[in-house]
Amino acid sequence: MEMIREYADWFYLIGAVLFILTLRGLSGPKTAIQGNRYGMIAMAIAVLTTFFVADNPVVWMIVGAMVAGAVVGIARARTVPMTQMPETVALMHSLVGLAAVLIAIAAIIHNNKLIELGPDLLAANGVNFHEMSRVHLFELFVGCFVGAITFTASVFAYGKLAAKKWAKTISGTWVKPVQAIIFIAMLVFGFMFFSTGNMTAFWAMTALALIFGWVWIAPVGGGDMPVVVSLLNSFSGWAAAGIGFTLENNMLIVAGSLVGSSGAILSYIMCKAMNRSIINVLFGGAMGGTAVAAADAGDKAPRNHRSGSADDAGFLMSNADSVVIVPGYGMAQGRAQNAVKELANILKEQGVTVRFAIHPVAGRMPGHMNVLLAEADVPYEDILEMDEINSDFPATDVVLVIGANDVVNPAAKDDPTSPIYGMPILEAHKARTIMVIKRSMATGYAGLDNDLFYNDKTMMIFGDAKKVVEDMTKAINGTGH
Ligand code: TAP
Repeated sequence: MEMIREYADWFYLIGAVLFILTLRGLSGPKTAIQGNRYGMIAMAIAVLTTFFVADNPVVWMIVGAMVAGAVVGIARARTVPMTQMPETVALMHSLVGLAAVLIAIAAIIHNNKLIELGPDLLAANGVNFHEMSRVHLFELFVGCFVGAITFTASVFAYGKLAAKKWAKTISGTWVKPVQAIIFIAMLVFGFMFFSTGNMTAFWAMTALALIFGWVWIAPVGGGDMPVVVSLLNSFSGWAAAGIGFTLENNMLIVAGSLVGSSGAILSYIMCKAMNRSIINVLFGGAMGGTAVAAADAGDKAPRNHRSGSADDAGFLMSNADSVVIVPGYGMAQGRAQNAVKELANILKEQGVTVRFAIHPVAGRMPGHMNVLLAEADVPYEDILEMDEINSDFPATDVVLVIGANDVVNPAAKDDPTSPIYGMPILEAHKARTIMVIKRSMATGYAGLDNDLFYNDKTMMIFGDAKKVVEDMTKAINGTGH
C-alpha cells in the first residue's frame, strides 16, 4: 500500500497515457475495440490508485457506491436500445456534473469544519492544515458552477431527447435577458465567494448555476440537441478537471481535460456538418423539432410520387454497375443492418459495386450508422463519409436510401427559406436513379417535406426497412444471372 502511495503519480501517468491511447483507438472503427480496452485498464488503474492514495477512506461507502454504480451501469448497458443511446449519454453527463457539485460542496464543508476546530486543536492531533488559498476557492467556484450548469442542462437534454413532457422548449423575447441576468448574478456571487469565502454567496452561486443550466438549454430545439449533448460532455470534463485541481489529483485533471477537449472538438465537427456555428446553436433559438415542423405546416397542394415494389427495385439494382446505399434513422429503427449487409453481398456477387454513404448526423447520435454497419460486419473500406462520396453521385446508377430523410433533403442546398438551408447533405438527388425505402410519406426528424421523394428519378418503396430489404434480396436471388 505504501508503495502505491509513493508511486501514485507514476500510476496516474500510465493511466493518462492509456487514456490518450483510448482516444486514438476510438478515432477509427478498426481500432475502437482496442481503444475501449485501454480505457477500461486506465480507469481501473485510476480508481485503484486513488483508493490507496486517499486519507482514511471510508471503505464500505466507496466499495458500496462502486458496486451500486456497476450494477446500474451494467444493467443499463445491457438493456438500452441503440435508439435511446443519446438520452442515456445525456443522463450520464448529468451525473458527472452533479458529482462535481457535490465534491465542491464536500471540500468546502470539510475546510470550514477544520477552520472551526482551530489550528491549535488540529496541530495537537497531528493534522497539517492550511486554509484554502484564493486559487483553491477559484477552482472550486469554477468546478462547482460548470458542474451545476452541466447537471441541469444535461437533465433537460435527457428529457428532450426522451420526449418527456416536462422538458418543454421555451421561447420568447424575455428568454435572452433572463438568461443574461441569471448568468451575471451567478458570476457576481461566485466572485464574492472566492474573494471572501462567504458561504451564502457560494450557495447563491450554486443555485443560480443550476437554474441557468435549465434556462440556457430549454430554448434549444430538438434538432440541435445532439450538439448540446456533445458540448455538455465537454463541460463535464472541464468541471472534473476543475475539481481535480482542488483535490490535487493529477489523474482527474488529465482525464477531465481529455474529455473536455475531445467533447469540444466533436461539437465543432457536428456544427460544421450542419453548417451552424456553436453560438447559433446555443443562442440562436429553436431549430428542428416542433419549431421546424411549425414552419412547414402551411397548406401545400398534394404532389405526386412514384412507388414501386421490392421486386422491381431488386431487379433494377442487380442490373446496375454501381449502387450507393444511404442509411438513416429508419435503418436503425427497423434493425435492418444485417439484412442490408446481405443485400450488399448478393449485389456484389452479381458484379455490382456497392458502397455506403454516411452523413455525420444520420440517425440519432454521432457515429450511429457506423456502429450499426460495423455490427453487421460491413467492410470498413465500403463505408464512405459525405465528403468522400458526394462527387460520385452523378456517376452512380442507383442510390438506395434506407430510412434516411433529412440528410438527403435537397432543400438544404436549394431552398434559402428552408430551416435546414446550408446544412451539407448527401447529394443523392444527383444519381441516375433513386430508390427510397420508408413506411410512408411522413417527414423525418426536422419535420420537413422532402423534394427528393417527388423527383422524377425517384421510386418510393413503402414498408418496414428490414422487410423491404429482405424482399429485395429474395427477388435478386430469384432473378440471379
Ligand atoms: P430522419 O430525417 O429522422 O428520417 C428517418 C426516416 O426513416 C423517417 O422519415 C421515417 O419515415 C423512416 N423510418 C423510420 N422507421 C422506419 C422503418 N422501420 N423502416 C423504414 N423507414 C423508417 O433521419 P436521417 O435522415 O437519418 O436524419 C437524421 C436527423 O436526426 C437529422 O435531422 C439530424 O439533425 C437529427 N438528429 C441527429 C442526431 C445525430 S448526432 N445523428 C441526433 C439527434 C437528431 P416513415 O415514418 O415514413 O417510415
